[in-house]
Amino acid sequence: MGWFMEHFIRLFLAGSLFFNGLSYSHKASKYTFIKEARVAPPRSTYEYIVIGGGSCGCPLAATLSQGGKVLLLERGGSPYRNPEEINIQKFVHSLADTSPSSFSQQFISTDGVLNSRARVLGGGSVLNAGFYSRASYSYIRESGWNESLAESSYKWVEKKVAFEPPMMQWQTAVRDGLLEAGVLPYNGFTFDHLYGTKVGGSIFDKEGHRHTAADLLEYADPIKISVYLHATVQKILFRYNQEKRKPQAYGVIFEDALGVIHRAYIGSKMKNEIIVSAGAIGSPQLLMLSGIGPANHLKSHGIQVVLDQPLVGQGMADNPMNVLIVPSPLPVEVSLIQTVGITRSGSFIETASGLGFGHSWTDRLRGIFEFVSNQSGLPPKFLPEAMESVADTIRSLANPILKGGVILEKIIGPRSSGHLELLTNKPNDNPSVTFNYFKDPEDLRMCVEGMKTIIKVINSKAFSRFRYHNMPVQALFDLMLQLSVNLRPKHPSAAFSLEQYCIDTVLTIWHYHGGCQQGKVVDHNYNVIGVEALRVIDGSTFHGSPGTNPQATVMMLGRYMGQNIIKRRLSQGRK
Ligand SMILES: Cc1cc2nc3c(=O)[nH]c(=O)nc-3n(C[C@H](O)[C@H](O)[C@H](O)COP(=O)(O)OP(=O)(O)OC[C@H]3O[C@@H](n4cnc5c(N)ncnc54)[C@H](O)[C@@H]3O)c2cc1C
Ligand SMILES: *[C@@H]1O[C@H](CO)[C@@H](O)[C@H](O)[C@H]1NC(C)=O
Ligand SMILES: *[C@@H]1O[C@H](CO)[C@@H](O)[C@H](O)[C@H]1NC(C)=O
Repeated sequence: MGWFMEHFIRLFLAGSLFFNGLSYSHKASKYTFIKEARVAPPRSTYEYIVIGGGSCGCPLAATLSQGGKVLLLERGGSPYRNPEEINIQKFVHSLADTSPSSFSQQFISTDGVLNSRARVLGGGSVLNAGFYSRASYSYIRESGWNESLAESSYKWVEKKVAFEPPMMQWQTAVRDGLLEAGVLPYNGFTFDHLYGTKVGGSIFDKEGHRHTAADLLEYADPIKISVYLHATVQKILFRYNQEKRKPQAYGVIFEDALGVIHRAYIGSKMKNEIIVSAGAIGSPQLLMLSGIGPANHLKSHGIQVVLDQPLVGQGMADNPMNVLIVPSPLPVEVSLIQTVGITRSGSFIETASGLGFGHSWTDRLRGIFEFVSNQSGLPPKFLPEAMESVADTIRSLANPILKGGVILEKIIGPRSSGHLELLTNKPNDNPSVTFNYFKDPEDLRMCVEGMKTIIKVINSKAFSRFRYHNMPVQALFDLMLQLSVNLRPKHPSAAFSLEQYCIDTVLTIWHYHGGCQQGKVVDHNYNVIGVEALRVIDGSTFHGSPGTNPQATVMMLGRYMGQNIIKRRLSQGRK
């Protein structure tokens, strides 16, 4: 992980050479409805309350405001506070920033992989690597979505935030290498998820400005929406609905930046509701803090049980990412992820280039590991020695001779999954998260196939001039194995195996999902099963990560469900 962050650090800092700062329209001024939570009234009433202004919550709240009075509560700050801060140059700064006002909240899963969750209006779209690509048609069908409504919802998102990236030498070489490796056909530039090799979209425009899910609030009705920042929801309130014989959500308690408590309610009209869009970590966590979860676990934290629901926090999954660093004899352009190989064996191959490892980040990165390890509840197996080996990696990566690119793979799904548990009763503390990377042998098989494709790309004619020919592919594996990229146990052996390589050097591509899965915690309309007036709509409902990268579909889902919820209100009104 240390390595990967280092890589992205160089990548995105270097990216700034290509995308230097043109002036950026200051969108904050357009948004009269975005305010600090400390000015919120102590009590207020709305028709919809959306918890979490992330990649899904923003398009959802914007759409709902076309149908009723909406409150959107986000625990983080504004992505517009300083326009330069969300420029491509600041990618790493944001991701690695451990200050309380950071857009990134780092955590380490019990699997020993450093990870990060968003804490800002716009959520992951303010923090991420920007790649934009839709889900496959089969994913859309299996999710039970109306295909034409999904299509128009994707377009609604793309109109504001998706761009065609520039294609340069390295990206072109890898693209052609993928074609030589048999990842066919070539599908050109497209948002669609198609077998073969393609160029996808990006939420960074040509000037390197990031366009985020918060920009989708431009679609909101400014009269009908209120957005509060630094509004951390502590719990959802329930009362017993005698008629339905179920608990019914009726309000939320949120805390502002000064620690002052506010309450917001949904009026008593039948179709009013609360929607949790706090992301794959935040949504299961908040349901548990509100009394919906495994009863014994909740009781052990002194939480009053509203509904015993053992499936909350289950099905937590993170697509493993495995990489090879490829030093290049030629100077390479700086490129972001632009081309993707979508293989039939279940792996997605992506690439980035223009790396050079400098010293400036080494201390900082080490500090992040230390900072996260110091936080309460870190699994005790991450002892100082493990931290020290990661620090060594970081130091060795400070070697300025190491230049080139990275070719990475992510697997579809995954099938392996784990769980989330509370460590404290505070919504801003990290829960304990376990992903069980490669527990399912099929995941491991896909990883191995993906690595084989990467080897073919590196050995291809198209890629030939970007590698040292006295450096066989095995040397690239050895290089990665010598680095401590995560905190997992290593298994050195005389016989190299791709299986062990996948297991030992796994990183995250930050596409974690699950925890409130459809059919388990929510029904096919995203209603929380067993209670009234409460839905969960975000990546926590997924059974697998959509497309090659999820954000397009997460944003689409916000728009899609917003329209369905409004439709329901209107049809109700006519009765
Ligand atoms: C570093 C990184 C790189 C990535 N790269 C890519 C990429 O290149 N392409 C891609 O498609 N995807 C990428 N992703 C993944 C993508 O960004 C996420 O899948 C997506 O943002 C998830 O959306 P969400 O709405 O489910 O959750 P989020 O976007 O995380 O939104 C949840 C929001 O809820 C808020 N919240 C949580 N708890 C509370 C509470 N109690 N009260 C109030 N607010 C709360 C959070 O602050 C957050 O803003 C990346 C992610 C990361 C972190
Ligand atoms: C799907 O959505 C479209 C567009 O909103 C709508 O016209 C159509 O009736 C929907 N189809 C079904 C089967 O609900
Ligand atoms: C972590 O904890 C140690 C021991 O308490 C302390 O010396 C160190 O400064 C802490 N580091 C960070 C980054 O918080």
